[in-house]
Amino acid sequence: MPVYSASQGDILVLRQPDDWHVHLRDGGMLHAVAGHTARQFARAIIMPNLAPPVTTASAADAYRARILAAVPEGLSFEPLMTLYLTDNSDPDDIEAGFADGIVTACKLYPAHATTNSAQGVTNINAIYPVLERMQRIGMPLLIHGEVTDPDVDVFDREKVFIDRVMQPAMRDFPTLKVVFEHITTAEAADFVESGPPNLAATITPHHLQINRNAMFAGGIRPHAYCLPVAKRERHRLALRKAATSGSPKFFLGTDSAPHEVSAKESSCGCAGIFNAPVAMESYATVFEEENALDRLEGFASEHGPDFYGRPRNERWIRLVKQDWAVPALLETGNQRIVPYHAGATLKWRFDGIAG
Ligand code: DOR
Ligand code: ZN
Repeated sequence: MPVYSASQGDILVLRQPDDWHVHLRDGGMLHAVAGHTARQFARAIIMPNLAPPVTTASAADAYRARILAAVPEGLSFEPLMTLYLTDNSDPDDIEAGFADGIVTACKLYPAHATTNSAQGVTNINAIYPVLERMQRIGMPLLIHGEVTDPDVDVFDREKVFIDRVMQPAMRDFPTLKVVFEHITTAEAADFVESGPPNLAATITPHHLQINRNAMFAGGIRPHAYCLPVAKRERHRLALRKAATSGSPKFFLGTDSAPHEVSAKESSCGCAGIFNAPVAMESYATVFEEENALDRLEGFASEHGPDFYGRPRNERWIRLVKQDWAVPALLETGNQRIVPYHAGATLKWRFDGIAG
């Protein structure tokens, strides 16, 4: 990866990355946010938790067309569609959608774990026939890894999920391709690193940069609230180590999850951090702080496609070491969204496609 100096400061050129976990929403919100992701990333795994959720291949195909219509002209972007699993998911429809190239993966939301997950899976045993089929056809399963048992402390839900759900599932489906999405704990990083090659994880920029204190810095901070919730500092440090280790089991997934400002700043605020406008800038900052800029390209642009069995992108992007101020608020159409790092000055700036 060439790193060289130019008149305006350091420039980093790397293979164009993909975002292996993003929420683009629908309607006006989709139009407001699609360009932010498509500007930086060549492809993205699109989360299916719309209302109603994307549960069939035909719904995924229609959603894909709406996404492409919302991508600003001049940007080349490939949405990789996912299906939202329910207790009633149909293995035949899933297999047909995968064979036709309409859907790339299925997403397992435990029922009530997060935004629009009420129709998620109530018990993983209910989808064992689906998992068997996915294992057979080589279709990846993407997992929101938190138990929803109200007796389990919110900060322990990922760790308990590993013991109660992940371990048994990996035992029962030993060759199923599994992505443990947006991991937030040292336990999850260890579980993935020590697991088989068909198990990988995405890591968000915010879980690399904030710990749980960020939600309470001088008052309640709804824009630092996401799910799984940020954990203690020791977990953040373990995630930074995993992401920058060079291990092919960890790759980029922003979990960019926009909500209207009124839905965040509320007595019952929604979970989600809108980091798409500052995604590569945030990751570059972390990798530089860890003296691992030479490993950014692997994490952002190589490990993901390699795991999914897709070609690496053949375009390059430029990141420039240059201060810039993130707007406090983004207003597009009727949508008002507070971005990640709102009002802060970042050290890296995304500078477009290099060729
Ligand atoms: O913070 C989150 N927001 N976590 C999720 O799992 C869902 C997402 C959303 O859709 O808002
Ligand atoms: Zn998500």
